[in-house]
Amino acid sequence: MSDHLTVVDHPLVQHKLTLMRDKDTPTAVFRQLLREISQLLAYEITRELPMTRKPIETPMEPMDAPTLAGKKLALVSILRAGNGLLDGVLELIPSARVGFVGLYRDEETLQPVQYYFKVPDGLEDRLVIAVDPMLATGNSSAAAVDLLKQAGATDIRFLCLLAAPEGVARMHEAHPDVPIVTAALDRGLNAQGYIMPGLGDAGDRMFGTK
Ligand code: URA
Repeated sequence: MSDHLTVVDHPLVQHKLTLMRDKDTPTAVFRQLLREISQLLAYEITRELPMTRKPIETPMEPMDAPTLAGKKLALVSILRAGNGLLDGVLELIPSARVGFVGLYRDEETLQPVQYYFKVPDGLEDRLVIAVDPMLATGNSSAAAVDLLKQAGATDIRFLCLLAAPEGVARMHEAHPDVPIVTAALDRGLNAQGYIMPGLGDAGDRMFGTK
């Protein structure tokens, strides 16, 4: 993957995203849409995975058939909202290894505070896809990627649902080697660090906590 930012403008993604943005969309529907959209985004972010061939036999004849090369990839959910994206991506890539990074955003400083970190072994040999629905200030995303690099990851991609230009710039500055795939690049952040027009607090909307 070479571009730093890929906006997936597929009609199904855009339609589902509009439904998710709507403040009247109930929690259960929001979660279901997130699951569906995450699979479409995962399809895009895995488009250039390295392939190899292996000999198999169809009922008709032997063939060398394409198959994914290398070690199983690692999905890393940035808690807690990352879990909403994780579920759908895991359905598409069920053999992926899974890690979690717990960061919360200090509402005053907007800086990330770490409270949990558990990732699969051998990150240096895996493609690592970090998932977090909202790339807002980019502070927690950049911090999560820092931690993944410290744990050995060298090939990291970042999957989100919505991105703000501020977050994309922050990630580009901190981690120019990490491509970002998103469903939309919104206008910007408000004074509280929320993405505008956005969809509100992704965690609250998917877990019904507000
Ligand atoms: N996190 C969210 O859940 N929503 C935003 O708009 C920004 C950060």
